[in-house]
Amino acid sequence: MAFQPFELEYHQSLWEQEVDYNLTESGVHPMRLDELIGDDQGKLAELLATEINYPHVNGIPALRENIARLYDGAAVENVLVTVGAAEANNIIMQTLLEPGDEMASQTPTYKQVWGLASNAGNVVRPFHLRSDAGWALDIEDLNTQVNANTKIVAVVNPNNPTGYILTEPEMDAVVAAADRVGAWILADEVYRGAERLRSDETPSFFGRYDKVLALGSMSKAYGLPGLRIGWVVGPPQTIEDLWRRHEYTTITATMLSNTLAAHALSPDVRPRLIDRTRTYIRSGFPVLEQWMQSQNGLFTYTAPQASAVSFVRYHLDINSIELMETLCRDASVFVGAGDSFGMDHHLRIAFGQEHDVLNEAFSRIQKVLESLA
Ligand SMILES: Cc1ncc(COP(=O)(O)O)c(C=O)c1O
Repeated sequence: MAFQPFELEYHQSLWEQEVDYNLTESGVHPMRLDELIGDDQGKLAELLATEINYPHVNGIPALRENIARLYDGAAVENVLVTVGAAEANNIIMQTLLEPGDEMASQTPTYKQVWGLASNAGNVVRPFHLRSDAGWALDIEDLNTQVNANTKIVAVVNPNNPTGYILTEPEMDAVVAAADRVGAWILADEVYRGAERLRSDETPSFFGRYDKVLALGSMSKAYGLPGLRIGWVVGPPQTIEDLWRRHEYTTITATMLSNTLAAHALSPDVRPRLIDRTRTYIRSGFPVLEQWMQSQNGLFTYTAPQASAVSFVRYHLDINSIELMETLCRDASVFVGAGDSFGMDHHLRIAFGQEHDVLNEAFSRIQKVLESLA
């Protein structure tokens, strides 16, 4: 099969620097460096004195300690720091998948591991979150798609693009399905901490089953995508195996990124970042919702429980990529096309921005939709 590009990221490469309003970012408006450091002069002096060397290849100890603290039962040897969750996903697939292995993947989803598996020649079997049931997991579908050849069961929880959070019984069903065939659970949990409706954080899959690799990132819940810091938490031997791939892929993330991420995840600073993210998410969604409700039934949606995006069904007879490109060209507003997540006639609209940005972007979208209707 010919190489398949990562469609979502490909469209982002093409459009995100070209438009006035980019509503494809699933995280919130990024934080500035001075906001992160605050008025901590000691920290600033320490940063300026940082020797820009290679850091520990698997992540500096202070960062791995702070990450381990976010997972019950984890210690530093359970943690590998990577260049974004993107690298983590990549090396996990390189490490786990062998010819003939299959992967079962939740859908709709962020299709990085899906594309990596397909491009390596591995079969991917989708199991669905049900749009007609508020994005609840179709457990029967899950159990049908996981079979003796399944090496990985992949979930994104909280989910991108729907913002749905699996319930405890749904998490149990994922564990039971993987356990039945001895598969790994690849739990991409980069939106953990970015909850809109609940104050407790989404529980991790780590600790629920011995073959779990849980991913996190500074990009979404912490508003620091440009740090390019992600991580994997898993069994120490598998973390070692991933580390060997990491040496080939990027060697390491940067010293400055490690240092800044360790600061951001320290117990004194982290709550402020989570608060900031949730404030954007909680105040941005009503702006999107009010606008959608004023569109005379053009949109149907289930409100996201987490993340800064909503996956919205539009009732127009136009393909989602065509609509996305029309909006980029005619409104200079960029939103995610449903097709990039496995569902046409949907748009993924980000709302983790200032209100004036959202209002202007939505009014531009509206003019284009009126011309199409
Ligand atoms: C579910 C999911 N996983 C991984 C990534 C990659 O994140 P990072 O910026 O940490 O590489 C993204 C980015 O959009 C994502 O949505």
